[in-house]
Amino acid sequence: MAKTATLTTRKADASRRRLVADRQALMRTFIRPESDAGRQSLVKYMEQILFGLHDFLKNHVGITEEIGLKALAERFTDTRISEHPEKKLEQVIADLIERIAPHAVNVASPYFVGHMTSAIPYFMVHLKTIVAALNQNIVKIETSKLLSIVEKQVLAKIHRLVFQKNEAFYRDHVQNAHTALGCFVEDGTLANYTALWVARNRMLKPTGDFPGVERGGMAAALNAYGIDRCVVLVTRFGHFSIHKAAGLLGLGNANVLAVDADARGRMDPRALEGMLEALRTSKERIRVMAVVGIAGTTETGAVDPLDRLAEICKTHGIHFHVDAAWGGPTLMSEKYRHLLAGIEQADSVTIDGHKQFYMPMTCGMVFFKDPFMLDAVAYYARYVNRPGSVDLGIRSISGSREANSLILDSALKIMGSKGYALLIEHGIETARAFAREIAQRPLFELVTPPVLNILTYRLCPPELKEKLRNVPPEEARRAARTLNTLNITLQRLQRQAGKSFVSRTTLAGTGPVPEGKVVLRCVIMNPMTTLDILKTILDEQESLYRNHLA
Ligand SMILES: Cc1ncc(COP(=O)(O)O)c(C=O)c1O
Repeated sequence: MAKTATLTTRKADASRRRLVADRQALMRTFIRPESDAGRQSLVKYMEQILFGLHDFLKNHVGITEEIGLKALAERFTDTRISEHPEKKLEQVIADLIERIAPHAVNVASPYFVGHMTSAIPYFMVHLKTIVAALNQNIVKIETSKLLSIVEKQVLAKIHRLVFQKNEAFYRDHVQNAHTALGCFVEDGTLANYTALWVARNRMLKPTGDFPGVERGGMAAALNAYGIDRCVVLVTRFGHFSIHKAAGLLGLGNANVLAVDADARGRMDPRALEGMLEALRTSKERIRVMAVVGIAGTTETGAVDPLDRLAEICKTHGIHFHVDAAWGGPTLMSEKYRHLLAGIEQADSVTIDGHKQFYMPMTCGMVFFKDPFMLDAVAYYARYVNRPGSVDLGIRSISGSREANSLILDSALKIMGSKGYALLIEHGIETARAFAREIAQRPLFELVTPPVLNILTYRLCPPELKEKLRNVPPEEARRAARTLNTLNITLQRLQRQAGKSFVSRTTLAGTGPVPEGKVVLRCVIMNPMTTLDILKTILDEQESLYRNHLA
């Protein structure tokens, strides 16, 4: 046994020794294989990747293998870069498939319903490969040419889905070098950032000697405009990227103020009006930079009353941003697009490609109703991005970036809006059926019914449910805390069992304890997730409760 091990080690050592960094071998990796043999090996590697990873997805229904993060981390502690090549590509790919992938999370499993990351259509892998192979850089036309043109067209398609302007409008702007209907960014975070960046620069624009906030900075801007602070208004369900943006933009994230929401987590328009009035009459000189409405909150999937919020913002002349990072693609469903009514009145809208457009990680987009708005963040450079050029880097937080629009454009062609609508409708309708199932089971309580395809619920055994209702406040608080602990433990046990995954969050401001209500959160976007699968997940939770927690 020991002899075999030594032999294997020696063989491995010998093969490692054979690999030497060599200029000619290196050069070959930059040239497309011309020979039949070379071509075959390239195809073989692609097969290895596509089928090897596919087998991983097939064989690992659960979340991860049973090995803790700490133990895994111990395997990855060597911090030296090997001087000479360690492995050939074939070995590296095999290693990735056999040693890395099994410890990744099988987000494609239909039992993985806890997050906004899910299975993607398989053709996305092909499209992503094409993007990598072309390796265009969208920052400027000189490194992307047609791909920048394609990007403008895709932006116009999604802009049209959201804002529904007329044909003449899109004819004017689709390929107009002087205007921008939106831009691609890395993710929803940067999309929200871009929208607020534009809102800030437009509000604190140049005036008199003041060159504008982008040039003069926040302190000078507040001084020039005679204000003490700028605030952004959103409910407490706003994604934390709004807070990050406020920090980065120099507002200070304490100036993101929470507008009250109703029991379903939607912004209360009267509370918004009340807050605007309070700010207007406050002793401090406060300017509202933007109101953010959400179309699909991260935690519960709630949709704010966008039409009412749009009206209020219009009356007060405030930038209205809609964070539709999650819910945006619902617009493709004729059946459910009314859930986002009012989004077309927004000044700016965030939509993520890697969420309900089912694109591979990552793709954020932000759209502006007014095609000149992005001018507020335009930057030029002498060697690229010259005024008047089509260079898309002019109006973008990103510098170099990949041609993600090619993936979205191709996916739209492959699926059609009807194809996407089928996915969206499946999510919404399965979530509704699941909510009915939860409501029927005595051990559970539905906390936030789905508007889109996200819902929250919790384990709530009848005896504790009773205690929440008909007992003195102190006892109710104790019961609420017990319930919170039960749900935290349940979620952990299920995750550790590795067969399925729901996530967990705490809904602040609900229930008798100040720390809020711990709930289980389900996001249903995988078309393979059926009601039967969701019932199995509930069955598993019931048996975990009976065997470990009751
Ligand atoms: C409503 C909402 N906005 C913004 C984001 C941020 O998106 P990303 O994680 O792509 O930065 C998320 C992410 O979950 C979200 O749910």
